Amino acid sequence: MSRQSTGHSCTHREKKTMERPYSLIALDEVDSTNNYLRRLDAPDSPCPLLVTAEYQTAGRGADTNRWESARGENLLFSLRVQPQALPARHMFAISEVAALALVTALTSFSEAPFTIKWPNDIYYGDSKVAGILIENDLQGAFVRRSVVGIGINVNQRRFLSDAPNPRSLADIVGHDLERRTVLERIMESFLHFFGQITDGTPDALDALHQHYKGHLYRMGEEHKFIDDTGMFCATIVDVEQSGHLILQDTECDRRRYEFKQLKYII
Ligand code: BTN
Repeated sequence: MSRQSTGHSCTHREKKTMERPYSLIALDEVDSTNNYLRRLDAPDSPCPLLVTAEYQTAGRGADTNRWESARGENLLFSLRVQPQALPARHMFAISEVAALALVTALTSFSEAPFTIKWPNDIYYGDSKVAGILIENDLQGAFVRRSVVGIGINVNQRRFLSDAPNPRSLADIVGHDLERRTVLERIMESFLHFFGQITDGTPDALDALHQHYKGHLYRMGEEHKFIDDTGMFCATIVDVEQSGHLILQDTECDRRRYEFKQLKYII
């Protein structure tokens, strides 16, 4: 791994307008920005810590998948945040914050209808533009800290991995984008949503949750899914605050799923 540059902000010496409200470590190459942050084990701090990389040699996706990304073409980063008082039973809110930040920021570049494929893939139509990998550390009944890893297909046009449906922002908007601008807009949006729920206020958590559900891919539409009983047709009718997905099948039976218990047919 090679450290390219380090930028520390979150200081109160600079003027507020000049200040970046997080610390930044910019790496050229690393195994995985999530792994880097977890190894770093930096001391507790309310200041978010962002690690970016031009290339990951072992980028991790959800499940046991790899996250493939061409060198220098996309955004690969992980953000460490420490909520003030977020109950562990509400840890799905971090996932909602990240997904909403991406949808909000990406929409500002294209007006395109980006959606959130439960629990936190970012889609344009039926193609995946970004993925999120969250690793939480709990302390008692609270989230102590959270590493939010985000990979966004920004300027890559050709994908060689066997990911089923990748697409980049550049392909959608028709031109390359300045990655730093995209990152800054995502950070602004993430910290905005995170600020609303960091102290675990129930009303704020509920408002965020409603907002999340308003952007859900295939909400209210009948589609095919696969679970451990096989393929079936159902409609997404709800997501619980815990993050469980609720489907209603064609027999009008409700089915409740944790992440990884359900596959979409796309
Ligand atoms: C997914 O499978 O959809 C989640 C992909 C998350 C990829 C990002 S890239 C930056 C961070 N570091 C990793 O190793 N994974 C995440």
